[in-house]
Amino acid sequence: MTDIQNGNAGAPEKKKTVLSAVQPSGNLTLGNYFGSLSRFGEFTEMFDCYYCVADLHSITVRQVPAELRRHTYEVYALYIACGLDPKENVLFVQSHVHEHAELGWILDCYTMFGELSRMTQFKDKSAKHADNVNAGLFTYPALMAADILLYQADYVPVGADQKQHVEIARDIATRFNGAYTPTFTVPEAYIPKEGAKIMSLQEPTKKMSKSDKNENASIYILDSRDDIIRKFKRAVTDSDTCVRVGEGKDGINNLITIYSCCTGKSAEEVECEFDGRGYGEFKLAVGEVCADKLSPVKDKFDELMADKASLGALMKEGAEHASYRASRTLSKVKRKIGFVEI
Ligand code: TRP
Repeated sequence: MTDIQNGNAGAPEKKKTVLSAVQPSGNLTLGNYFGSLSRFGEFTEMFDCYYCVADLHSITVRQVPAELRRHTYEVYALYIACGLDPKENVLFVQSHVHEHAELGWILDCYTMFGELSRMTQFKDKSAKHADNVNAGLFTYPALMAADILLYQADYVPVGADQKQHVEIARDIATRFNGAYTPTFTVPEAYIPKEGAKIMSLQEPTKKMSKSDKNENASIYILDSRDDIIRKFKRAVTDSDTCVRVGEGKDGINNLITIYSCCTGKSAEEVECEFDGRGYGEFKLAVGEVCADKLSPVKDKFDELMADKASLGALMKEGAEHASYRASRTLSKVKRKIGFVEI
């Protein structure tokens, strides 16, 4: 994004639009928290914001039905627990707004086989799930383009791994606009600054991932205080003893990043604070600040999850709002293509 301060510039009567989505597959990690969830609130005031729980995307990989349902409630509640006010942001579940699947199909027909074949995530995921390389896994970027283009989103806050998918959404929008007349806003990815990239606690050269098999590798947003502290105690470091950022010290670098993210202190300040103190003490301190950071989120989350009926009512309201905007775009698309209206 070129200038985040200027969401409203040039057209004060019309706010620009932000859209993002999180898949309800697996437990969300500290990486998801610092990289996306905790930052989404920054956009609320200046933009029209849409945040989606992308359940249609999740079924490209086999899901246990009861878990998918639970994770959908959880991601929805986490959006709110992480600071998104459902009155100020449109929070909705993708499968509740049928326009996504519909535009997804249409955009499949404006997306090239060659383009999709080049997607790194497709290559990675088809290697990882070799027994289930389904068509949905392949055309997933066209559905993601539909998510974005339905709302005429200007900005799409995502992690660096999703940049390629936003690029293809731009290409699809441009292609469609060129084939007919301007229909879609061409979106831009907004990638948070480097530094917030959280790595695995066990293999610190790898990104912390919600699908990591090793429980100790990831801190989940909903982990208990004891689990958080225990996992940090076991975090992989190096044979040095000095809490300093350095080459080849991936474990310590990662812990310093996490400590910075939790406290707002710079890496230099963290180094000073722990000057002359050992790794053991540092790991314990990281665990504590991290648990402190996540505990209000968890409290709010527990409160929301205790009342599924109210969450359901919010989902319904969100879906209605989203659908209003989405259906306008979809009608326009259908008209341009030449579908008969009734
Ligand atoms: N593909 C994204 C991910 O796996 C989730 C997603 C689905 C998304 N639709 C989107 C992100 C639209 C941004 C915009 O993280």
